[in-house]
Amino acid sequence: MNEINSEKDSFSHVSVMLNEAVDGLNVQPGGVYVDGTAGGGGHSFEIASRLGTDGRLICIDRDPDAIKAATGRLEQFGNVTIVHSTFADIKTVLNGLSVDKVDGVLLDLGVSSRQLDTPERGFSFHYDAPLDMRMSQDGISAYDIVNNAPAGELVRILSVYGEEKFAKNIVREILSQRSKKPIETTFELAELVKNAYPMKARKKGHPARKTFQAVRIAVNSEMEQLERGLQESFDVLNVGGRLSVITFHSLEDRMVKHAMSQWCKGCTCPPDFPVCVCGNKPKARLVNRRAIEPSEAELLDNNRARSAKLRVCERIL
Ligand SMILES: C[S@@+](CC[C@H](N)C(=O)[O-])C[C@H]1O[C@@H](n2cnc3c(N)ncnc32)[C@H](O)[C@@H]1O
Repeated sequence: MNEINSEKDSFSHVSVMLNEAVDGLNVQPGGVYVDGTAGGGGHSFEIASRLGTDGRLICIDRDPDAIKAATGRLEQFGNVTIVHSTFADIKTVLNGLSVDKVDGVLLDLGVSSRQLDTPERGFSFHYDAPLDMRMSQDGISAYDIVNNAPAGELVRILSVYGEEKFAKNIVREILSQRSKKPIETTFELAELVKNAYPMKARKKGHPARKTFQAVRIAVNSEMEQLERGLQESFDVLNVGGRLSVITFHSLEDRMVKHAMSQWCKGCTCPPDFPVCVCGNKPKARLVNRRAIEPSEAELLDNNRARSAKLRVCERIL
């Protein structure tokens, strides 16, 4: 965990559902808040602006470039601490700062436009670049997974994380290619996926979209991060504190919806028990019954918001 205090950078990312997500936190002047996915600091800036000088904002990101950008964007605020870590480690981050409980946590999941649009980060099939996709710029890369993962693991990654119907065809193509030479670039992977796709199925968007999403999720352990991050974030909330989460695909949204509904339900007795014997009480309430989606106006401005969903819950026990 590194604390970084100053460095400027330009970071082009339009914050998704900026007001809706920060409204969801119900920011109170003097409160303590965490932005677990600081990125370019857009949501953080809005939180810090509503906080007043007595409050505190702790910003986390796993990407060193985002840390630089957020540091520059937020330098005018004296009550913002920026920490290079993951939101799955939010308890450790808070412990390190001697903070016990907080009044709100925001998670704006996935990658930033800056990450997607920096060709050499290897997140996008629109640019030719080495297969990388590591948000933290550390650890195993897309190259390692695509070239070294066993066939069964690749099929699982593509089917589960990409919900890719043609996972087996694609993996067959990957195995055949990598037996001749390693698959080194985004364009090589995108081309190979295209070749593995049946003609009829090539109409809806780029065939490599789901594969790139799946490999990125695997490289960054995104589902494991989310599962732990949600629970740790909820655990550190004060009663009355809010958790506001923006997701970008159905896997993430399902996990967030399920976690929130478990906290709201409380009781863990099997459904066929006539009366509750566990005695567990609801720990949360949903602030909005349904997920909030971006307005038409936002979608006209920012096409990347199109699959976003916002869910907010409040701790009540
Ligand atoms: C969609 S962007 C956030 C943009 C930000 N809300 C803004 O308004 O500028 C997502 C950011 O979350 C970071 N991120 C993704 N998973 C993370 C994790 N598990 N822990 C910490 N940061 C993470 C990414 O590196 C990226 O910078």
